[in-house]
Amino acid sequence: MSAPAAFRPVSRSRTTMAEMMIPAYANFGGKIHGGIILGLMDKVAYACASKHAGRYCVTVSVDGVDFKAPVEVGELVSLRASVNYVGRTSMVVGIHVDAEDVATGAVRHTNTSYFTMVAKDADGRPAEVPGLELETKDDVRRFLEAITRRELRARYKDELDNTRTTLAVAAELPRLAAERCRLAAGLTP
Ligand SMILES: CC(C)(COP(=O)(O)OP(=O)(O)OC[C@H]1O[C@@H](n2cnc3c(N)ncnc32)[C@H](O)[C@@H]1OP(=O)(O)O)[C@@H](O)C(=O)NCCC(=O)NCCS
Repeated sequence: MSAPAAFRPVSRSRTTMAEMMIPAYANFGGKIHGGIILGLMDKVAYACASKHAGRYCVTVSVDGVDFKAPVEVGELVSLRASVNYVGRTSMVVGIHVDAEDVATGAVRHTNTSYFTMVAKDADGRPAEVPGLELETKDDVRRFLEAITRRELRARYKDELDNTRTTLAVAAELPRLAAERCRLAAGLTP
């Protein structure tokens, strides 16, 4: 087997996917299920990461899935994915999602999200991926943004973990007074 490439350009793995939103994808409110869009994002992230890695990849985490607008039946959803960052075995794939009204040509940006993918070897262990050759100013900006997000995520995760282990429920109870909840009769947490 030949040695893996040391570096691969961003353009080599850039991937575009499009799918028509058919009635079977709609929820009870007549809009497209969020899970359908998430599934498409997972597919395009897989294709993009696997092209860069030259290997099978798995999804490890997802950041920034905020749907800015509902997607309608009859729209064409387009997903553009590129590798924004590589670590040793992980890659961050940025995905830009648009929805187009095919009758009028009007295009709306619905969300941009970041999928962290890890390459696996034949035994299912994380496998090293090629470095990333940054070809444009946008590539450089996205790589730097990914480093910043990674640092923020690590800090946020530490704080979240600390919250779970250190939260003093009894002392924090007064905070619930400002919230839209109430304790069931007889409950003393
Ligand atoms: C993610 C997974 C590969 C990590 O395995 P591991 O043996 O703990 O390996 P490591 O700790 O070396 O992590 C491997 C890489 O994943 C990254 N990683 C692990 N957990 C992560 C997380 N929650 N978020 C972002 N990156 C993460 C590590 O930073 C490391 O990246 P690097 O090599 O670029 O530095 C393993 O937990 C796994 O296979 N999870 C299941 C993934 C899956 O099946 N997805 C589909 C769900 S249906």
